[in-house]
Amino acid sequence: MIIRALPRTFLLNLSALGVMGFTLLACMAVAMAADDSAPGEAAAKASDCFSCHSTDQKLVGPAFTAVAQKFAGQPGAASTLEGAIKNGHVGTWGQIPMPAHPQLSDAQLQQIVAWILSLKAPKSAATAAPGQTYTTTVNGKPVTTSFPIFQPGTQKVTQPVFRGYELFDSYCFRCHGSDAVGGEYAPNLRASLNNGMTESQFLSIAMEGRKAQGMPAWAGFFSPQDIDAIYQYTKARAIGAVDTGTPPQ
Ligand code: HEC
Ligand code: HEC
Repeated sequence: MIIRALPRTFLLNLSALGVMGFTLLACMAVAMAADDSAPGEAAAKASDCFSCHSTDQKLVGPAFTAVAQKFAGQPGAASTLEGAIKNGHVGTWGQIPMPAHPQLSDAQLQQIVAWILSLKAPKSAATAAPGQTYTTTVNGKPVTTSFPIFQPGTQKVTQPVFRGYELFDSYCFRCHGSDAVGGEYAPNLRASLNNGMTESQFLSIAMEGRKAQGMPAWAGFFSPQDIDAIYQYTKARAIGAVDTGTPPQ
């Protein structure tokens, strides 16, 4: 569509703006030609991919930069990945399955995979620290989490933990109980986490839901950051670092 629309705009601009318009359009055309991975990114954004993936951080699924790195230079990488997205996949990155995407056309799959494979490894150390941990003292004992619960040197919770509290008590409390105390209709999520449920299992169930059991899917409604904030709040409650009620902020 963009390509077909271009010549007419081109002529209009030439007559209206003369050389200046021409230079501007020439620059735009070069910029557009250089970025031929853009349709793939747009198609991924229009689908559900970013509910579970981020470009450079592991969420429920692997970071797209990590996929690019793993498959770099492998013959047949593109068709392997197109098949994995279309038919669903499990086992390469862990035990959580990726759902199938039968609604995507072959052309869309090709564009998305071309974009993923074009990605470079993350530049900054900040995004490449999945193993980082934080220690909080609860009742005199150190507890380790994958995220900070309190702002450094204070008793005030971080912004994501507070946001997680707000979201939990707006959306999850109906079934899982206010302040994650447990409810009549759904499991006590503090107990789930204390009995070994991992962060990625929590995120995955929250995204995908268990519709047959009455647990709604939240993918598409919440961003991965929102779900992660809810996880952080629930985890902070589970280990006893945060009490019932509004956390100090
Ligand atoms: C409900 C969560 C979820 C959604 C939605 C999702 N993925 Fe995934 N994806 C995963 C998980 C989990 C894995 C790891 C599967 C494995 O270990 O093989 C994965 C793996 C992948 C891989 C690597 C496959 C391989 O063979 O190593 C690619 C590429 C990928 N996803 C792309 C996408 C794209 C593109 C979309 C959107 C059209 C998408 N994903 C939507 C969860 C998801
Ligand atoms: C309409 C009721 C309802 C709402 C609202 C709801 N859930 Fe659930 N949830 C359930 C039910 C029922 C189950 C148990 C499913 C099963 O039996 O496997 C469940 C299970 C879960 C589990 C798995 C627990 C375990 O031990 O297996 C997680 C994690 C979870 N919910 C997260 C959330 C989050 C996060 C929210 C808010 C964004 C939320 N739920 C909102 C009904 C709900």
